[in-house]
Amino acid sequence: MKKILITGGNGLLGQSLRLMLSKQYEIIATGLNSDRLKNHNHTYTSLDVSIMKDCENILVQFMPDVVINTAAITDVDYCELNKKKCLNINALSINTFLSYCKKYNKKFIHLSTDFLFDGKLGPYHENEECNPINYYGFSKMKAENLIINTKLKNFSIIRTCLVYGKKIDSNNIFMWVKKKLEKGEALNIVDDQYRTPTLYSDLSQAIFEIIKLDLKGIYNISGGEYLSIFDFVCKIVSIFDFDKSLVKRCNSDKINQKAQRPKKSGLLIDKAIKDFNYLPTKMEVYLKSIK
Ligand SMILES: NC(=O)c1ccc[n+]([C@@H]2O[C@H](COP(=O)([O-])OP(=O)(O)OC[C@H]3O[C@@H](n4cnc5c(N)ncnc54)[C@H](OP(=O)(O)O)[C@@H]3O)[C@@H](O)[C@H]2O)c1
Repeated sequence: MKKILITGGNGLLGQSLRLMLSKQYEIIATGLNSDRLKNHNHTYTSLDVSIMKDCENILVQFMPDVVINTAAITDVDYCELNKKKCLNINALSINTFLSYCKKYNKKFIHLSTDFLFDGKLGPYHENEECNPINYYGFSKMKAENLIINTKLKNFSIIRTCLVYGKKIDSNNIFMWVKKKLEKGEALNIVDDQYRTPTLYSDLSQAIFEIIKLDLKGIYNISGGEYLSIFDFVCKIVSIFDFDKSLVKRCNSDKINQKAQRPKKSGLLIDKAIKDFNYLPTKMEVYLKSIK
């Protein structure tokens, strides 16, 4: 049975991957802190991906056939203020995994982002030029370059965008909006930033397919609907019958964020549709299903 090592195993995607992939593969999950996923029977071990020796020990001990790197600092404003740490964890830490995959001819799957782009002309295809406008995006671009320059025989870079879904211990946009509105708190939501929001389980299903079919190279995996963050939040409000007067429309200049965000970002998924019939769930269908 194929052995798969997952980093960032406590995260929104990491937890979902662990549940999905453990049906078919032997999973070694790792995360920075103690295990937050309940009711599973695979191995979990704490691992800080920035500690090279610890990564090497885990790799030698388990000899995984596939390494899926979901670990990252995903707080974009925190990255802007903590550049060295961000670069170290989001980019430089992958060197240990790259050396292992190159030496033993194993597959490396890395999670990346639409924040590689400046947001002038989105949504973007896989082959468009990167020009990040914040440090998080820069660190993710740096990681992609490290992978490409290593000339691994077998890697996949999976770019995704605004991952959401109902997960209690996650602070993704859906949970954030839901928690705030349930408490009756008002929200300022930008209407000049466009995305292709991605359901976390669509993303893990796509990674499952990429492993099964052993697909290589860069893949955009996101939702198929392109809309502003304001319109996305309005969909949640309408389906969950929240008080719509609590949601205030604003533009990016009006909210005080440390890091700039791309305006017209988001991803085009034609390649995934063509290569493995990727079929993202419609937002409305998912939101109604969890109401
Ligand atoms: N979420 C999005 O909207 C989005 C969009 C585009 C791309 N992505 C990319 O997709 C991937 C997964 O995202 P996600 O939403 O699942 O993120 P997430 O929920 O923030 O999870 C990231 C995980 O990384 C772990 N981590 C942080 N520092 C670490 C370190 N030094 N060593 C080991 N693990 C560390 C954290 O572990 P603990 O929980 O144990 O502290 C956390 O669980 C990331 O690479 C992200 O950049 C996400």
